[in-house]
Amino acid sequence: MSDSIVHVDLGERAYDIVIGGGALADIGSRCAELFGSGKRILMVSDANVAEYYVSGTEALLIGAGFQVSVCVLPAGESTKCVARLAEIWEEAVEARLDRKSFIVALGGGVIGDLAGFAAASFLRGIPFVQVPTSLLAMVDSAVGGKTGMNLPQGKNLVGAFHQPNLVLADLSVLATLPLREQHAGMAEVIKYGVIWDPEMFAFIESHVAEIQALDSEAMRYLVKRSCEIKADVVRQDEREGGLRAILNFGHTLGHAIENVCGYGEWLHGEAISIGMVYAAKVSEVVNGFSSAETDRLIALFKAFELPVSWKGLCWEDLYKAMTADKKAENALPKFVLAEEMGKVGLPLEVSVELLKRVYDDGA
Ligand code: NAD
Ligand code: GLY
Repeated sequence: MSDSIVHVDLGERAYDIVIGGGALADIGSRCAELFGSGKRILMVSDANVAEYYVSGTEALLIGAGFQVSVCVLPAGESTKCVARLAEIWEEAVEARLDRKSFIVALGGGVIGDLAGFAAASFLRGIPFVQVPTSLLAMVDSAVGGKTGMNLPQGKNLVGAFHQPNLVLADLSVLATLPLREQHAGMAEVIKYGVIWDPEMFAFIESHVAEIQALDSEAMRYLVKRSCEIKADVVRQDEREGGLRAILNFGHTLGHAIENVCGYGEWLHGEAISIGMVYAAKVSEVVNGFSSAETDRLIALFKAFELPVSWKGLCWEDLYKAMTADKKAENALPKFVLAEEMGKVGLPLEVSVELLKRVYDDGA
């Protein structure tokens, strides 16, 4: 079957997301069409992904007439740091990249964010291509142009908006993604169902076995629909002046959990699963969101072995982390709250008393 294309309509920064079971095979021709053959490329990846996909992708790009250099970094969140960014910059100088050259980010969200930021900053900005290899990267981080890295003081504290010129999501690479990572990616897919698309939510409920078996048509539908939703949101609000904040449903508590427990104990998707259950329960009180819908959400997370409870996590630590988050205003945490399945509002401040009451109910 031919690849599916989602167009991200951002005027002169518009680009296509190509989704298919063998989309990577066309990387050479697609890049040649976009940039012209013969350009210099720095391909950035991590050690896990490189084991499977770097040499094949490099060969495809060389076969299409490009001059390719490769930079393989260690896998994991700690790679999103200044030292590794400097490594990419140095490799870019070594490879003699110029303004017509481009970077290929081949990996999960860590590589996409860091290589994207390298592209945003090197020579004041050169083009880049996202080749997301984790489910989370396909449905979220590779789309929308947020790039960046962590500082010792906090996650994603430095970054830039820099849209890719092309996103190539090859669903076949999900076969080598560890199961826990697949489930964590599903948390973001389920999020799109809650914030935007009740039909996709229902589809996931009725296709759990197919999704777990990575059925190609089910995965194509989920990745395509998720990208369409994110593209629609980003088209309306590229720089998060308003609407884009709804993508943070579940993230207020989720980020606090990652912060308090240390990045690595919970995967991002796992932390936001707990955060989405908490946000749904706050939504019941504030918006009259139906508790039956919260139960559907909990059942779906459990089907993908995602955590749903904050039991054992200390309220004071979580609250402190929520108020310190870069999105909190006047040190008050803000929550995206559900109104009904498929519909959420813009972030709202919620009183500490109410937040504590919901926490206590589940603690
Ligand atoms: P990741 O990049 O660390 O990838 C997860 C793990 O899976 C890594 O060990 C990686 O090596 C491995 N992996 C990836 N693809 C693989 C494959 N096909 N086969 C085998 N192993 C594979 O993490 P992630 O979950 O992809 O992304 C998380 C990062 O994304 C965080 O840093 C987060 O801040 C960022 N993020 C950014 C945005 C954005 O809009 N820019 C949105 C959400 C998350
Ligand atoms: N992951 C949230 C965003 O891209 O805005």
